[in-house]
Amino acid sequence: MRDGLEPLLDGQLAYYRARAPEYDEVYGQRSFSALTGVLDELPVGGDVLELACGTGQWTVRLAGRAARLTAVDGAPEMLDIARRRLRDEGLTATFEQADLFRWRPSRRYDTVFFAFWLSHVPPQRFAGFWSAVADAVRPGGRVVFVDTGTAERVTERVAPGGRDTVLRRLRDGSEHEVVKLFHDTAGLAADLSKLGWTAQVDPTGEGFIRGVATLTGRSATD
Ligand SMILES: C[S@@+](CC[C@H](N)C(=O)[O-])C[C@H]1O[C@@H](n2cnc3c(N)ncnc32)[C@H](O)[C@@H]1O
Repeated sequence: MRDGLEPLLDGQLAYYRARAPEYDEVYGQRSFSALTGVLDELPVGGDVLELACGTGQWTVRLAGRAARLTAVDGAPEMLDIARRRLRDEGLTATFEQADLFRWRPSRRYDTVFFAFWLSHVPPQRFAGFWSAVADAVRPGGRVVFVDTGTAERVTERVAPGGRDTVLRRLRDGSEHEVVKLFHDTAGLAADLSKLGWTAQVDPTGEGFIRGVATLTGRSATD
């Protein structure tokens, strides 16, 4: 798909590649570390695919729940840290590098999970992303996600221009524009319903959201 967003999305990935060594600092903040415990309350199991795994903060927790785990990210620097984290914990997963805006799954899974990824998918790519996810879910399987909610908007510097982007600064002083949507629970569930998903989206933790979606409007084998 060519919609003019490629430079922004390539820049977003470049930002995360550069941020990888300092990414885990955010997990030192209380709200984030408390948040990863929400996974215990979510229906994760079987053959699990994690998208945008980052440094593996969720991957280690998924590994304890999954019969088999595959984790994908576009940033090799993130994958290196995630691989090391799992190895240090004596856990196993298969890691794959892929650009999720070009990715199509090669097989289906019982659970597809992503944390803090959906808010980086621009509205113009929302349907395409969920179509790829639909192809990754086995009939009867589910999608589970965690993300920032509307309350988090105040913590970000919204970029001018109305592109659903924010400005982020790295330790080296460089400034980056990244996509950031602040989904509200009802609106997100309604958007997913239009695409054939039945989704339960709820607030969780301090300003976050959690969702569980199953494909109902279209056969997962279409
Ligand atoms: C906000 S981080 C979330 C990481 C992890 N899920 C977590 O919650 O800690 C977003 C992740 O998306 C990855 N990413 C950004 N653009 C991507 C793309 N186009 N394809 C695949 N991964 C991408 C980044 O490398 C980063 O690891």
